[in-house]
Amino acid sequence: MFPQIRMRRLRYGKLKNMVRENAVNVGDLIYPFFVDETAAEKSEVASMPGVMRWPLSLAVEAAREAYDLGIPAVLIFGIPKTKDEKGTSAYGDDDVAQAAIRRIKAEFGDDLIVITDLCLCEYTDHGHCGIVDFETRDVVNDQTLPVLGKIAVSHAKAGADIVAPSGMMDGMIEAIRLALDENGFEKTPIMSYSSKYASVFYGPFRDAADSGFCFGDRSEYQMDPANGDEAIRETELDVLEGADILMVKPGMPYLDIVYRIKQEFKMPLAVYQVSGEYAMIKAAAEKGWLDEEKCFLEACVSMKRAGADMIITYYAKELAKILAAKDQKKVLANVPKSKR
Ligand code: PBG
Repeated sequence: MFPQIRMRRLRYGKLKNMVRENAVNVGDLIYPFFVDETAAEKSEVASMPGVMRWPLSLAVEAAREAYDLGIPAVLIFGIPKTKDEKGTSAYGDDDVAQAAIRRIKAEFGDDLIVITDLCLCEYTDHGHCGIVDFETRDVVNDQTLPVLGKIAVSHAKAGADIVAPSGMMDGMIEAIRLALDENGFEKTPIMSYSSKYASVFYGPFRDAADSGFCFGDRSEYQMDPANGDEAIRETELDVLEGADILMVKPGMPYLDIVYRIKQEFKMPLAVYQVSGEYAMIKAAAEKGWLDEEKCFLEACVSMKRAGADMIITYYAKELAKILAAKDQKKVLANVPKSKR
């Protein structure tokens, strides 16, 4: 006890860096972006300053910006030119997501991991994540499963390296695994949005992806923010159905879930710092109330501390730049003063 033990002894100079337990690395980052089939030019999302919707013609450029910074993976969201009740523009060979995947894979091959968001909400005119029965106003779980299988196969055919189902339908991982395997894609991993909460923090995303819903909300399929134990059951099912990588979404308000899922399953785990988390930091920074860089760095290192292996963040490019600059500084700091 004090005065023998003084925690401050290790908080000085170079030693502080040597005893640091966690770090965000560029290799942990996944850069999400939106490809808009009707856009002719890139345009900024109003509620997410700095985040663009990219036209198909610039999809490769969007990916290149991440690739050039050393980011290993991108997550693609398609915004189709047509939407209908059944989301038929989600699985055509030449639909927006498939076209974007094809172009990006043609350019980067195995040097960039292409992950695809696999859901119906961007492709249905009602904005729900599944097939809707309008009489009962229900998102019909089991009718949605074969459609998700079809989308998965279309993404894999176009060259997607990983599919990431985000619709929170029961049984979706098994349905997608079977569909992929039947079509020769048994090597394509599934990154499941395994504990995805019905969160208000997705608000700005719905501007970005035009995926607001016309009735109800998503609380009948996404998880109740009040529940923690339920995340374990949700995730366990996905694991048993064949999920290869797990995910917790949103990030910062759910770090207890990140911790529990990592401890319980010891599987690769991604955390999604969602649109609302990004927008909050941006807005506070624009007002001069928070230091933006320090804020997203701290948020992301906290995700790593909680147990995340990978971080999906709209700040991926900014993070990569800062981390590169820090590395540069570290290299210099380790050159003895006399030799600098
Ligand atoms: C699609 C999907 C959503 C997000 C990722 N995939 C929207 C939703 O579930 O309503 C949200 C991402 C974000 O807020 O950044 N189902």
